Amino acid sequence: MRRRALVIGGTGSIGSEIALSLAATADLILVYRKNQVAADNTLARIQAAHPQASVTAFAHSLSDQDSVHHLQALVQSKWPNGPEILVCCFGDVDNALLMTEELSASTNILTEHLLLKLQLCHSFVDSMYRNRFGRIVCIGSISSQYVKRGQVAYSAAAAGLEGMTKALALEVAGRGVTVNLIRAGLVSGASLSAHQQMLAQSGRDLKKLIPVGRLGKATDIARTTAFLCADDADFITGTIVTVDGGRSLGDSHL
Ligand SMILES: NC(=O)c1ccc[n+]([C@@H]2O[C@H](COP(=O)([O-])OP(=O)(O)OC[C@H]3O[C@@H](n4cnc5c(N)ncnc54)[C@H](OP(=O)(O)O)[C@@H]3O)[C@@H](O)[C@H]2O)c1
Repeated sequence: MRRRALVIGGTGSIGSEIALSLAATADLILVYRKNQVAADNTLARIQAAHPQASVTAFAHSLSDQDSVHHLQALVQSKWPNGPEILVCCFGDVDNALLMTEELSASTNILTEHLLLKLQLCHSFVDSMYRNRFGRIVCIGSISSQYVKRGQVAYSAAAAGLEGMTKALALEVAGRGVTVNLIRAGLVSGASLSAHQQMLAQSGRDLKKLIPVGRLGKATDIARTTAFLCADDADFITGTIVTVDGGRSLGDSHL
């Protein structure tokens, strides 16, 4: 039986690989903000690799609870029983020191990286609970633990998302719904900061930065997501899986 997977950010650098992995066993709704070219490319790649998959992409910018409710109605018009899999893989990374930014920049980051994800879970977990099957995976960040200057709000949101994952997992575990989070390290792609992109392009100090000696790939995250979303991953819930090439372990060059 094919599952129904809703991937928020499903056309981004990590999300599109997740969508491609899930399409082997699930029909998909992908949500993106505005990048039509990326959406078209993602749809074409998935249809070429998995012609049996039904895939729809909605351009729908999430900003507040109303926008989440609107998305819920859109999804329900296609899938009256709701999605069985929800993957949250969206949000911009914009590093700046707390004291140099307007407070609104921080609250926007908290909204995008924490509050909207809680609202999405609130909207879509209900049908999973009723149907006695569900998989929720959020893509978080090692910034929850391994903090950097310029990421005060981002780190707070990342840590909050981990708490949310565990607490929600506990509430719905008895109804076949699992909730997990991937704590991602540096992954090559669109949302790297300018500094990180410079490091990635030069290859300089990557071995010092990341013990395994390379940047993460979107497929590293996608494979882990597909594993957590599988039917037989029903014994894994409330887990934070770190996928970072060892970066948050410590300094391997002392
Ligand atoms: N890249 C990394 O190294 C890394 C590391 C750790 C964690 N992460 C986390 O992984 C997630 C995805 O990162 P990425 O590199 O794949 O980002 P990305 O390439 O910029 O893709 C983001 C995706 O989310 C969509 N999106 C963004 N804001 C949205 C909104 N408000 N409403 C609806 N859709 C929205 C984008 O649509 P449009 O393209 O149309 O705007 C795009 O499809 C982020 O939460 C990021 O913090 C990334």
